[in-house]
Amino acid sequence: MTYTLESVDTVAGGKNPRGTWTNLDALWRAVEEPLRSRGNDIHTPLSFTFAEFLLDAHPEADPLIVRTAILLHDTGWSRCDESKIFTEGFQGDWRKSDIRILHEIEGCNIAREVLPGLGYDEATIKKVTDIIDGHDTRMESYSIEDSLVRDADRLWRFTPAGIALASGWFKKTPSQYRRQLEETTFPELITEAARALATAELARSVELLKLDVI
Ligand SMILES: [Fe+2]
Ligand SMILES: [Fe+2]
Repeated sequence: MTYTLESVDTVAGGKNPRGTWTNLDALWRAVEEPLRSRGNDIHTPLSFTFAEFLLDAHPEADPLIVRTAILLHDTGWSRCDESKIFTEGFQGDWRKSDIRILHEIEGCNIAREVLPGLGYDEATIKKVTDIIDGHDTRMESYSIEDSLVRDADRLWRFTPAGIALASGWFKKTPSQYRRQLEETTFPELITEAARALATAELARSVELLKLDVI
């Protein structure tokens, strides 16, 4: 099946997710400071919206788990040494670097610190931290909620904002980074809904950033 901007409801076409879910503004505010590191105040809201698009396609997934996990998944970067984030976190075998494991552990710690005061029960917090733990360094997904978070974490990279930030992290030009998206990131997507969103988003980014030209 070929996906186009016309056939897929997504950010690039000016669409919003259709579902209605609990307001999580109190949680956003609780982690505002941790979200200010490493571009997470751009990455996380965008990935959060993609998670909601994925939830539209997967009503069997628990929306509170998915939305809470994607919101918190990278907050742990705020407790990592900034200078090592870009040297160790994005080079060589970056997926397995110590700093990546540390950002997952610290993300779980932040979840355990902020969620109880916002009314989350123990069982829900455990499901959230099970997803945050290993979200970059573990290759397999354990549940539909885990799969949607993993896909949403990647989907923002297909947008112009994602290409802008991530191409700098990987020290590539936008068109070199597009090849990484097509060859590495796209094949990692788990759900068909994510492949549809990624295809439509990338088509728009190629147009806007003139990636077929420069
Ligand atoms: Fe991460
Ligand atoms: Fe992330």
